Amino acid sequence: MNQKNRKNAKIYQIIHSSILFLIFVTMAEEIFIHSTEKAQQYEELIPQLQALVGDEKNLIANLANTSAALHVVFGFLWIGFYLVEDNELVLGPFQGPVACTRIQRGKGVCGQSWLRKQLITVPNVDEFPGHIACSSLSKSEIVIPIIKNNDVVAVLDVDSQHVNHFDEIDEKYLSIICTWLSTYCF
Ligand code: SME
Repeated sequence: MNQKNRKNAKIYQIIHSSILFLIFVTMAEEIFIHSTEKAQQYEELIPQLQALVGDEKNLIANLANTSAALHVVFGFLWIGFYLVEDNELVLGPFQGPVACTRIQRGKGVCGQSWLRKQLITVPNVDEFPGHIACSSLSKSEIVIPIIKNNDVVAVLDVDSQHVNHFDEIDEKYLSIICTWLSTYCF
């Protein structure tokens, strides 16, 4: 290869790398977590979640990505949203096995969280009166209401295969995420 061809090959190589870089930068929607410590993992996740949602206004898209991001980082058995519609909770975006489609106000952990407007942590689902078992694999659960203008508009429901899985770290950071969703997505 003469000097001119070598120069052209180099230019093509630079252009090729630049195109690949641009494709990566514009298309990559990945969550990167470096810490192995749970609180730190939430701290790393939240700004990435906020960037992922960005200016997007579509509620379903934003809830879908939020549940996917939490699922990919923490590997919960089931994580998803139930949306208040016509005085019922209706299944929204989620990750995990198929789940109950509708839940009445006051029923199960989700319906109770809606009724009480409170976060509910259930260390052992067998000990929660009225728990709705969508999956027999679920052993513990946390439900956080999403409140907008003093009304519950949705709940975030998370299930684990392990008893006593959710602690005050999950309570703190999942609440932060729900408050942020209420402000920016609902
Ligand atoms: N266990 C919930 C029902 C929803 S599923 O867990 C996905 C409840 O008791 O409300």
